[in-house]
Amino acid sequence: MAQVIDGKERAKQLRKELKGRVSEFTEQAGHPPGLGVLLVGGDPASAVYVRNKERACEKVGIRSFHHQLPDDATQEQVEEVIDQLNADPHVHGILLQLPLPAHLDAEPLLLRILPEKDADGFHPVNVGHLAVGQPTFVPCTPLGCIDLLRSAGVEMTGAEAVVVGRSNIVGKPAAQLLLAEGATVTICHSRTKDLAAHVGRADIVVAAVGVPEMIQGEWIKEGAAVIDVGINRLDDGRLVGDVDYESASNRAACITPVPGGVGPMTVAKLLENTLEGAIRHEESKRKTV
Ligand code: GUN
Repeated sequence: MAQVIDGKERAKQLRKELKGRVSEFTEQAGHPPGLGVLLVGGDPASAVYVRNKERACEKVGIRSFHHQLPDDATQEQVEEVIDQLNADPHVHGILLQLPLPAHLDAEPLLLRILPEKDADGFHPVNVGHLAVGQPTFVPCTPLGCIDLLRSAGVEMTGAEAVVVGRSNIVGKPAAQLLLAEGATVTICHSRTKDLAAHVGRADIVVAAVGVPEMIQGEWIKEGAAVIDVGINRLDDGRLVGDVDYESASNRAACITPVPGGVGPMTVAKLLENTLEGAIRHEESKRKTV
């Protein structure tokens, strides 16, 4: 049976470390790191995510600034809140919770967030920094995946890594990070011809497709590390990942559960990103004085 990679426990440890670093920052800077969170509309899942993120901020000493707009908010209203957060010196990170209501255009809004406050790492400037290996904001979920692989002692250098899913939020940045770690990376997606064959060659599988239990256990190579980013609610109420957990854990050396794997790490990495944004902000202030 595979070793279970406990994301809940690792996130707890990370929050404990962060609490210390946040308090050190607050003492030196004279103010805490701040995260501006903007939720548009009443999507229940997004409301839960946002509440979790804000609670986690509070627990480690990061100040969160909550902004809520109604379902029928206009593009201009969202822009106004972003501009306000961009200009606020107490805000070091900004998070625009996705998905937005269908009548809004997310792309120009994400572009409007100052790259130096883009705690999610979605701005094309930060995507570019990641691609060329400069220190920057990196999307939280892929950061969580790499952290879990490292904490499980998985050798990434030279490993065959297969990322299933090509989203801007998870698949593409996860592939960049694995590449930076020295893995040989393949990105598979809905048009990939023989997914089973690709997955079967992988020492590391990162599944981020959003299709419940799509990756079959029989596809997994003996001894592989499996990181399951999927969170899918079935009709019977069960929460499952993108990997068939039971069968995969018979072959993998280590595997993340759903829930309790990658999920808690995303929030912990958002806190870390916010703190690091605040540190970079203080450093740049010092340089310009
Ligand atoms: N919606 C689902 N995941 C995310 C995320 O990581 N960041 C934001 N802003 N919205 C999301």
